[in-house]
Amino acid sequence: MAQLWGGRFTKETDQLVYNFNASIMFDKRFYAQDIKGSIAHVTMLAKQNILTEEEKNQIIAGLNGILNDVEEGKLEISDKYEDIHSFVEATLIDRIGEPGKKLHTGRSRNDQVALDMKLYTRDEIGEINELVKGLLQAILHVMEENTETIMPGFTHLQKAQPITLAHHMGAYFEMFKRDHERLLDLSKRMNTCPLGSGALAGTTYPLDRQYTAELLGFEGPTLNSMDGVSDRDYLIELLSALSMIMMHLSRFSEEVIIWNSNEYQFVEIDDAYSTGSSIMPQKKNPDIAELVRGKTGRVYGALNALLTTMKGIPLAYNKDMQEDKEWAFDAIDTAKGCIMLFTGMLRTMQFNKDRMKDSARHGFTNATDAADYLVNHGVAFRDAHGIVGQLVLTCIEKKIALDELPLEEYKKISPAFEEDIYEAISLETCVNKRVTTGAPGMESMNRVITMYQEYMKTY
Ligand code: ARG
Repeated sequence: MAQLWGGRFTKETDQLVYNFNASIMFDKRFYAQDIKGSIAHVTMLAKQNILTEEEKNQIIAGLNGILNDVEEGKLEISDKYEDIHSFVEATLIDRIGEPGKKLHTGRSRNDQVALDMKLYTRDEIGEINELVKGLLQAILHVMEENTETIMPGFTHLQKAQPITLAHHMGAYFEMFKRDHERLLDLSKRMNTCPLGSGALAGTTYPLDRQYTAELLGFEGPTLNSMDGVSDRDYLIELLSALSMIMMHLSRFSEEVIIWNSNEYQFVEIDDAYSTGSSIMPQKKNPDIAELVRGKTGRVYGALNALLTTMKGIPLAYNKDMQEDKEWAFDAIDTAKGCIMLFTGMLRTMQFNKDRMKDSARHGFTNATDAADYLVNHGVAFRDAHGIVGQLVLTCIEKKIALDELPLEEYKKISPAFEEDIYEAISLETCVNKRVTTGAPGMESMNRVITMYQEYMKTY
């Protein structure tokens, strides 16, 4: 057991209590952020003449030595310390002696952990944004290649109207673009530095909090020291943004699973992203997509857990808050892994364009356009709807598509039909007539793709 306190205690901590209380098993992962925060802190202390230049230099050299040795595997972060803060401080004192004991001047572990967690979260958000960028690029690539790839669009998982693969992919581009913007938005809001909040009520030393904040790349210091040590809103926002990303990935995964099924065969997942069965030799399963869908629950769980942990905590710091870490770490790792894997799967996936088009042809996806044709020939829409309904019934009986039905049959049901009905209900016409912004028609699709290309340039 190695802890920073003990002066007022007359007994050793019970080993079980010690283990229950310790966090080093998981907070060791932000050793680099902890050291970075300490370097900024002592730099500020020296500027304010609270430490001498000499002390500052010794401490910083000591901290950098610890950082290097941990990174090079020469120094192990041992679980015998209570938490990462204790490990760094104790190791520093071991290595440089007296000046090391001054590191914690004007600071508490409460503002220290609040800072570390923010620094860590900020770094992770940067990485998540890069992964989302890769995903958006992969989606955009599929869009650029497939403005003419016709497929059925669905409602209620029933074939509805023809769209293009570019259009379908564009819906996901929109979702992940919003996700990226949510992360940017949250980064802006969390950009204040809690260091200097002390245990809860600031400190009596003349700290220059603005300076520390600038050294660490924050916009400024937090403006209330009690909130500074006990705010975890930004983590809840992150978990919420990650839940949203997972929800989008999960919907996408569900579609990939359906598209990859034997019945649909719209796509073929690459061998490198599929798995086999131990008993059925013919199987090639979409396990990655299924796992992404499954892991979504885990990230939602983290969000719920942290919301629940935070809801009953009186101001200011309470140990409950230590529970933020494992949930946040797990959700961050899970979401990152899922984005990465999904992007790889999408990049290597084959789209079976003929199957998609064939599926659109045989699902009466052009029925609305047949009704619109009648409307353009003077028939009221409600009547047109009924007429086309009858035509569909005839085709179902004959097991043919609308464009395979002879003109006499059309005319039998409505004299308004002419030879040009075939052109009007061709899937290409159905798609390309839809040119309003956001629609699948080639013209509007190309406009949107150009906007997305611009968006990616400034990402
Ligand atoms: N391990 C603690 C946490 O994660 C660090 C802060 C401890 N502060 C305290 N007063 N016990 O929240």
